[in-house]
Amino acid sequence: MEKIEPLPLAPGAVLRLFKASDAGELTETIAANREHLARWLPFAESHGFEDSVAYLERKRAQIEANDGFEGAIVLDGQIVGAAGFHAVDWLNRSSSIGYWLAADVVGRGLMSGAVRGLLDHAFGAWELNRVIIEVVVDNARSRAIPARLGFREEALLREAKLIRGSYEDAVLYAMLASDWPPPSPREATGSA
Ligand SMILES: CC(C)(COP(=O)(O)OP(=O)(O)OC[C@H]1O[C@@H](n2cnc3c(N)ncnc32)[C@H](O)[C@@H]1OP(=O)(O)O)[C@@H](O)C(=O)NCCC(=O)NCCS
Repeated sequence: MEKIEPLPLAPGAVLRLFKASDAGELTETIAANREHLARWLPFAESHGFEDSVAYLERKRAQIEANDGFEGAIVLDGQIVGAAGFHAVDWLNRSSSIGYWLAADVVGRGLMSGAVRGLLDHAFGAWELNRVIIEVVVDNARSRAIPARLGFREEALLREAKLIRGSYEDAVLYAMLASDWPPPSPREATGSA
């Protein structure tokens, strides 16, 4: 099985694979951020300990099946979020990314760094060709992540997400291997 090393994100912060023993802490972090998360991620509405156990088992099986991975974002030893691949479409060499952070750690660049690392892995080790992120139109903080990393906004997905009983439109962002990594800001502006 492929060895996936923890990805350093900032001093004291890493993205690492989940462990079965994370179930209690994961449940607590989601419960403490229920309102913040459930506005955009319906799973968080009623997520409890048994859901964490089932999720972590699915994530273990995902890695075993060579179908991608999701990991915990850990800051100073505490789980403060998650990020990873929902699945890998090996026939088309494409995947999609999802993520969330606890409300008290937003605004530090942790998730942009995590997604950057996920793209390096997808286009590097796995030699994928395309990675997408789907974000509800009104989710400005989340849309800023693919925008910041140079994803292209490809489409409006009408009523793609069912959130608290209403269908909300989403934006499809995509990054291709041929566009990754984007030129650094210095190269892009052509200045020395
Ligand atoms: C979506 C979500 C993960 C975004 O979190 P975030 O903290 O804004 O994203 P990042 O960790 O990349 O941080 C970016 C912020 O840090 C700042 N920042 C600081 N250092 C940075 C660095 N080195 N690199 C990038 N950004 C940096 C950016 O300026 C930005 O701040 P701003 O929004 O005030 O301009 C978070 O809001 C969340 O979990 N929301 C609820 C769940 C959700 O919506 N999930 C996504 C569903 S599609």
